[in-house]
Amino acid sequence: MDIETIKGELKKSLSPKRYNHSILVAEEAKSLAKHYHINEDKAYLAGLIHDVAKELTEEENIYWIEKGKLSKNLENKENINIKHADIGAVIAKEKYNLDDDICNAIKYHTIGNKNMDLLAKIIYIADKIGREKIPEALKPVKELAYQNINKALLYCLEKQKIRLKEKGIKIHDDTEELLKELQK
Ligand SMILES: [Fe+2]
Ligand SMILES: [Fe+2]
Repeated sequence: MDIETIKGELKKSLSPKRYNHSILVAEEAKSLAKHYHINEDKAYLAGLIHDVAKELTEEENIYWIEKGKLSKNLENKENINIKHADIGAVIAKEKYNLDDDICNAIKYHTIGNKNMDLLAKIIYIADKIGREKIPEALKPVKELAYQNINKALLYCLEKQKIRLKEKGIKIHDDTEELLKELQK
């Protein structure tokens, strides 16, 4: 499927605000990929569809959960952040037939994972800074991302940990593992 067709589909399935965010993430991911000498087209594509599952109906969620043989727990998962990343990765594979590195980047874009490759790190960061208004706490990330991607990632994760703690939510084990890895 060509990029314009994918954009057309996303435009139909996402709110204008989220579609716009997807374009910004794709552009930022492409720019970071260029900076770090990895495939720019892949980065653009991964950025473009990273939130493909964010606004699905419950029926659509169930369809993809079954199709991707994902844990049934996901169906009831209140944490939409984790759910849309896992389902998005299934859609990237099953519907768009994209490479595993793109699917993994989508899968890891909210909670992270210690197995993240450079593309996955780029998508994680691009998601944070590909916004009309970058939240105050994440302002330093953009500059940091072009200096040292691991430092930028660590910065985001530490902020996330603080934010979750304030809300009384325990950080996901995968995030904690990645955090420990980056702190070494
Ligand atoms: Fe997302
Ligand atoms: Fe996003």
